[in-house]
Parts: sequence; structure tokens; C-alpha cells
Amino acid sequence: MRLRNGDGRYGALAQFFHWATVALVVALLAIAAYMTGLPLSPEKIQVYNLHKSLGVLVLALTLLRLVWRWLSPPPALPAGMSAWERRAARTSHLLLYLLLFAQPLTGIVHSWSANFPVVIFGWLTLPNLIGPDQWLKEILEETHHLMGWALCGLFLVHAAAALRHHFQLKDDVLRRMLPWG
Ligand code: HEM
Ligand code: HEM
Repeated sequence: MRLRNGDGRYGALAQFFHWATVALVVALLAIAAYMTGLPLSPEKIQVYNLHKSLGVLVLALTLLRLVWRWLSPPPALPAGMSAWERRAARTSHLLLYLLLFAQPLTGIVHSWSANFPVVIFGWLTLPNLIGPDQWLKEILEETHHLMGWALCGLFLVHAAAALRHHFQLKDDVLRRMLPWG
């Protein structure tokens, strides 16, 4: 399979970015649902650190992914799609990208404002650029919570649209994002 996008297909690198992000976001949502209910303990701190590390990884992957998207533009949407379907696809992809940036960033700044360190996989601590700030902490906690579940909802709509293309419209949209498609 080719590395670059082309011939009406996503290439290997774009597919890697897409499916690695899906796996990470699913893990992050599951960890988030589990960790917030834990009693304060060393285990809770470890699980929070894992959530933070995987979240920063999503941010890094999304940055690289957008650079790659610029170097190797995605294939055009199938010709048969109506104007509203094209608009819906473009808008939902844009929203997904926005959330893939905003969610980790609010998580990082929330941790800083709560004066908790962001330690990435136990070896790199991000320097706290803002220091404790109770007002910001409360706003970002709520924002991160709401956007996290909005991302979950959009993910389900987006996945349902991909499955509709495959099973109902019987076009190439899902296949061109699959390595064996
Ligand atoms: C795409 C990446 C991320 C996703 C999808 C995500 C998702 C979530 C969700 C859904 C919650 C809310 C749990 C709940 O209250 O029901 C949460 C909580 C939290 N997240 Fe993230 N997160 C991401 C990245 C990050 C990053 C990068 C950090 C910090 C470096 C972070 C730090 C936190 C913290 C500290 C909480 C707990 C807040 C509290 O105690 O109420 N998250 N995350
Ligand atoms: C956290 C979950 C997900 C996120 C954040 C996500 C994000 C994205 C984004 C941003 C794009 C646009 C790629 C581009 O052209 O730049 C995309 C495309 C795509 N996604 Fe997802 N996705 C997720 C889950 C899924 C799932 C579960 C499926 C399959 C059931 C899926 C199928 C597709 C397909 C087929 C495309 C290509 C659409 C086209 O050809 O225009 N995605 N996804």
C-alpha cells in the first residue's frame, strides 16, 4: 500500500493516524469514565497520569496528521454525494479536528490551573505555564467534561455515517480508509 493519499484512497500514513487516534480516543473515554470515580489513592494518580499521557499523544498525533494532510491532501468525496452530504462530511471532520486539539489543550491547562503536573509516560514533565487559578480550573473542568462527551457523541454519528456509506449506499468511503479495502 502507498504511503501517500492518492488514486481515490487514503494512504498508509493517513490511515495509521486515523485508526491510532480512534484507539486512543476510545481508551481515553473509558479511562476517564473509570478514573473520576476512584477514591484518592496512588492508583488514582497513576490512572490520571496515563489519561494525561495518552491525551498528549493524541495532540501530538493530530499536529503531525494535519501537517501530513497538508503535504498529501485527502481523496475527493465520491461524485454521487449531494451538496448537504458534502457539507455534513466537511463540517463533522472539521469539528472532530477541533475537538482533537481543544480536548487535550483544555486538559493540560486544567491540570496546570489545578496545580497538578502533566507528566508524560513518567519521563517528561511539561512546565506549568500558568500556575494555580481556581476560576480557570472550574471553567476548564466543565469544558473538558462537556467536550469529552461531545467528542464521544460526534464519534458515534461519524462512525454511523461511515457504516451507512458502506452498507446502505454501497460506495467506497469506508473501504478507502481500511488497509484491506
Ligand atoms: C483527546 C484527548 C482527551 C479526551 C477524549 C479526554 C476525555 C476526558 C473526559 C470525557 C473526562 C471527563 C470525565 C468525567 O468527568 O466524566 C476527562 C477528565 C479529565 N481529563 Fe481528559 N481527555 C483528553 C485529554 C486530556 C489531557 C491531555 C489531559 C491533561 C494533560 C486531561 C486531563 C483530564 C483530567 C485531569 C480530568 C479529570 C477532571 C476532573 O477531575 O473532573 N485529559 N477527560
Ligand atoms: C474517535 C473516533 C474518530 C475520530 C476522532 C475520527 C476522525 C476522523 C477525521 C478527522 C476524518 C477526516 C480525515 C481527513 O480527510 O482529513 C475521518 C475520516 C474518516 N473516518 Fe473517522 N474518526 C473516528 C472514528 C471512525 C470510525 C469508528 C469509523 C468507521 C466505522 C471511521 C471512518 C472514517 C472514514 C471512512 C473516513 C473517511 C471519510 C472520507 O473519505 O471522506 N471513523 N475520521
